[in-house]
Amino acid sequence: MPPPTAGSAPPRHPLAVLGGDVTVRVADGRLLPYANLDVAATAPCAVVAADAVTRMLPTYASVHRGAGALSQRCTLAYERARASVARFVGCRPGDQVVFTRNSTDALNLLAHAVPAGTTVLTFVGEHHANLLPWRRAVRLPLPRTPDEAVAAVDEALRRHGPALVAVTATSNVTGEVWPVAGIAQVAHRYGARVVVDAAQLAAHGPVRMAALGADYVVLSGHKLYAPFGAGVLAGRADWLDAAEPYLRGGGASAHVAVDGTVRWTGGPARHEAGTPNLAGAVALAAVCDTLTTTGWAEVTRHERWLLDRLDAGLAGVHRLALFGAGHPRTGIISFTVPGLESAEVARRLADEFGIGVRDGLFCAHPLTRHLLAAAAPAAAAPATAVRASIGAGTTAEHVDRLVAAVAQIAGR
Ligand SMILES: Cc1ncc(COP(=O)(O)O)c(C=O)c1O
Repeated sequence: MPPPTAGSAPPRHPLAVLGGDVTVRVADGRLLPYANLDVAATAPCAVVAADAVTRMLPTYASVHRGAGALSQRCTLAYERARASVARFVGCRPGDQVVFTRNSTDALNLLAHAVPAGTTVLTFVGEHHANLLPWRRAVRLPLPRTPDEAVAAVDEALRRHGPALVAVTATSNVTGEVWPVAGIAQVAHRYGARVVVDAAQLAAHGPVRMAALGADYVVLSGHKLYAPFGAGVLAGRADWLDAAEPYLRGGGASAHVAVDGTVRWTGGPARHEAGTPNLAGAVALAAVCDTLTTTGWAEVTRHERWLLDRLDAGLAGVHRLALFGAGHPRTGIISFTVPGLESAEVARRLADEFGIGVRDGLFCAHPLTRHLLAAAAPAAAAPATAVRASIGAGTTAEHVDRLVAAVAQIAGR
């Protein structure tokens, strides 16, 4: 199959990542370079993130808790990391950045802080992290087009009082870009707020609160080339300051009386009780600073080049059902091979070709089941799908190897 894009190497990505030299032994005994095509689940570690953590470790000490020089230095590093994230997402004056464990944790924190009586509108196609935490939720059906999504929010808000619209920026199943700015424009007309789940967008395009129309954004460091377990909830302070602390303990409490009465702190510390994750924050800040400096043009060029090649390659594989191709999207494609269970396809890609992909329903069961049912009559549809995803560290050879391997598996 001829490669659809000119040349054999994609334009350069501004983030170098670790792990490009990892090899795995496949079933016939060969040692192959590992092709990590499951970047949407967890991205490899950026060199700048690893370097920043390595530089910090010799002076590692407590954050917000000590008078010693190293404690002071680490407190500064932690608060600088918060400022880097605020710059990265374009926080407005007065917005807060709360460090969490990941996007799931950040959305649960916001669900905890939503004022009583607020209806939360989501689409049923959301990742479970943005579907399950909401207590008073209205789940809108899957829209067929971006315009339909905006219209559905408009229609629903007409019928509900105070509301929060919780919507993903890009789908973790198809990579499709959601009309977040249009939804936010409508939401704000009704005085509703908007939280944007940027877990999938953050590594692929700008997460700017003003451009998205977001009152809150959430993201995960481990999907943004910054492992070590930090995530973020950024946005308006009032709900967060008014809410009971998400975690109760040291750091969140300003004064505790003998009888147990507590005066809680305000600001991000209110929801960050316990010793914070300095390594996670420092790693995330290093990536945010790099991308804030370089901008997104190189990321977009790199990804577009690889995604075009992947789309064209898979489109040429006989009988494959592809989900998401043809729509504006980030570096994800999901597919099924008719007649084969997706777990079997993923296992063979790993065992015989040294390729890592994801199979399953991708923690977005309603959406993935809908796509599967639409692609084939119930009796013929595999129960799950395969997802390939790309990012920094992905090469043309990874993409070509996947296309050739899927063709071989589908052909038998
Ligand atoms: C769109 C989306 N939202 C939220 C999440 C949850 O992210 P995490 O597992 O880092 O909490 C994911 C994870 O895959 C995701 O893809």
